[in-house]
Amino acid sequence: MIHSRRSFAFSSFLLAPVCLPVEPAIISLPRPMETGKTSVESALAKRRSVRAYTKESLTVAELGQLLWAAQGVTSPDGKRTAPSAMHRYPLEIAVVAQRVDGLAGGTYRYLPSKHSLETLTLAGAGSPLLARAASQAPVQSAAAVFVIAAVYERMGPGAKNRTWTDYEAGLASENLLLEAVALGLGAVVTGGIDPAAVKEAVRFTGSEQVIVVIPVGHPEAAR
Ligand SMILES: Cc1cc2nc3c(=O)[nH]c(=O)nc-3n(C[C@H](O)[C@H](O)[C@H](O)COP(=O)(O)O)c2cc1C
Repeated sequence: MIHSRRSFAFSSFLLAPVCLPVEPAIISLPRPMETGKTSVESALAKRRSVRAYTKESLTVAELGQLLWAAQGVTSPDGKRTAPSAMHRYPLEIAVVAQRVDGLAGGTYRYLPSKHSLETLTLAGAGSPLLARAASQAPVQSAAAVFVIAAVYERMGPGAKNRTWTDYEAGLASENLLLEAVALGLGAVVTGGIDPAAVKEAVRFTGSEQVIVVIPVGHPEAAR
């Protein structure tokens, strides 16, 4: 009897699925700061495209702060850090975590109403998720890459609604760039990408269309 229990336990062990790293489906982000040491004027004066980063990681708090700057909810009725035409909020933001302390490498969707991340996919060790989608060096070397996408249908049909949606992507991007300056980080808007390949890599499976990506990291000291 003991013998058959043991062999049952052993065969169960052999048949058990290989355990991959597990990340909860929804990850709460730390509460964002609403005050800081850098003035808007100072962030505007200092902002430059930064394309070379150290190997240092971002913290989850920094990641959350950048996402909040781009699309965070700032009023009880759901209004956000960036304005939205007819408050339709057509943007979707994903982040590719390449080196974020306490967060498994992978891609995550920002959920503004919960200030949380939804896990989209986890990366296997040594498999850069955006290798095929965006060959520019900053995208590969950044600690995190923010993917600014839109569901154009949410704004409505026609050229004018499309223009407004693209305009909003610009507003959210600039918020994120200024927040990066305020946090002492460097970033660059990167339009030279394959949008469909980025969409596939981050595992957006709906009608999201990728517009630009913004790699962010600790700036390498100017040489
Ligand atoms: C829509 C857009 C797309 C861009 N695409 C790229 C890009 O693919 N690669 C890159 O290195 N910089 C890119 N840039 C950054 C510009 O090259 C940069 O903003 C410009 O040289 C001015 O420099 P500054 O940002 O330091 O002021 C892009 C900027 C914008 C607004």
